[in-house]
Amino acid sequence: MAGKVATAAPKVKIRHTRLFIDNEWVDPVDGDSLETLNPATGEVIGSVAAAGVKDVDRAVKAARRALEQGPWNTMDAADRGRLLLNLADLVEKHAHDLATLESLNCGKTIGDSKGDVQGVANTLRYYGGWADKIEGRTIPVRGNFLSYTLRQPVGVVGQIIPWNFPLLMLAWKWGPALACGNTVVMKPAEQTPLTALVMAELAAEAGFPRGVVNILNGMGETTGAAMVAHPEIDKIAFTGHVDTAKIIQKAAADTLKRTTFELGGKSPNVIFADADLDSAVAGAFHAIYFHGGQCCTAGSRLFVEAKIHDEFVERLAEKAKERKVGDPLDPATEQGPQVSREQLDKILHYVELGEKQGARLITGGERVGSKGFYVAPTIFDKVKDDMAIARDEIFGPVVSVLPFQGVDEVVERANRTQYGLAAAVWTRDIDKAHLFARQVRAGTVWVNCYHVVDATTPFGGFKLSGQGRENGEAALEHYTELKTVTVKLG
Ligand code: NAI
Ligand code: MG
Repeated sequence: MAGKVATAAPKVKIRHTRLFIDNEWVDPVDGDSLETLNPATGEVIGSVAAAGVKDVDRAVKAARRALEQGPWNTMDAADRGRLLLNLADLVEKHAHDLATLESLNCGKTIGDSKGDVQGVANTLRYYGGWADKIEGRTIPVRGNFLSYTLRQPVGVVGQIIPWNFPLLMLAWKWGPALACGNTVVMKPAEQTPLTALVMAELAAEAGFPRGVVNILNGMGETTGAAMVAHPEIDKIAFTGHVDTAKIIQKAAADTLKRTTFELGGKSPNVIFADADLDSAVAGAFHAIYFHGGQCCTAGSRLFVEAKIHDEFVERLAEKAKERKVGDPLDPATEQGPQVSREQLDKILHYVELGEKQGARLITGGERVGSKGFYVAPTIFDKVKDDMAIARDEIFGPVVSVLPFQGVDEVVERANRTQYGLAAAVWTRDIDKAHLFARQVRAGTVWVNCYHVVDATTPFGGFKLSGQGRENGEAALEHYTELKTVTVKLG
């Protein structure tokens, strides 16, 4: 691991900084502006418009007009799907610029950003395919009636997304919302406003009518809160911190908005002694250090069976020390900076707590360089279940190693958390694998793999990790209202 980090000059131009309302770029009426940084240097790279309450209202009115008047609400479902396919093609055409801008603004390695951009295209195509397959049922009701159901859009949906996967989270939210015929007002994270604006431009080019997608940058407490309070937004879809979700759910109660939440986790990654050790070490490494640990699914509680514990930790530490931390735009870099000073401070605070509470720091635990927000891959061993580093979501490259003895013990300890987003198990024993998968309380379980997430598979959390599911057919349910129609027959 390099002790110093160098950063290259940005290779992409920032083309859009205004609000995108009704397919037009507009200045805020009562909003403000927002500086945005390059986390690799900590320097300001631009400033974007931040929407005020009146701007939110303008966007919601545009979205409601689009919902209630043509052409969007009279468009054939197949044509709606076609627009999503067009957008996917445009995303691929502009993949280089989108990925570069994503890396510049959120610190993701360029390789990871390219992967995300492909994920965006895959997601949009997947939901483009769904648009004309969203069907109701006929129901054998008592009496001489015909009863059938229609699946109709929820309406104007407010979508609030975080900074860790700015483009991918946008696609996860636009895909099902638009396939089902909703209109969208989206607020990107204040740290990463740039790529969503490019997506707005591409959406207009793809042919989405005025008002169908609107982008409002701004702070959560102002722009986000105004969206949650707005009576003409029918649903809020949110990804972010559980405490923010609680604020949103309480505020949404006033208008009884529909809400779906994708929140964080403290996911258990369980390594049994009979696992293929080479792939388990590589898998545990990827589980925690992918995107510098800034993943809701990060495998941050690493349970290792006592028999192999020492060897496992040693091998993991060797890899951690070799990880290339540096400029996200350098293709050789394996880990970029954390997104912000706030995140850097939060991670270093948890390192301090870990040491204070008696965990053993094996490697890392420090900032890398003095510019930008880099953190060395960090391993804590001899962690106890009740230590802060084993309980709280750190959202950084910090793993807690927790030794265990047997399957019953590890299932019980894996579940001893308020979260339930993901879990993984590494073993060659099919019984242990399925037993763990059945008993662990988590929305996604991986066996002998990690972070395998696809547009086709439902994704979401048990317990404090969320409500509802994104991706797959499951997401469609959360973007439609179910209507029963009953007809008296002759
Ligand atoms: P956050 O939950 O505050 O931000 C996520 C989004 O919510 C942003 O767009 C933000 O502007 C918006 N927001 C914030 N307050 C709001 C409010 N009162 N009303 C409406 N919208 C609001 O998360 P933050 O502060 O960026 O990160 C803090 C921690 O949250 C991280 O350290 C991590 O633990 C967790 N997190 C989890 C994510 C996940 O993927 N589940 C993603 C990002 C953060
Ligand atoms: Mg916050």
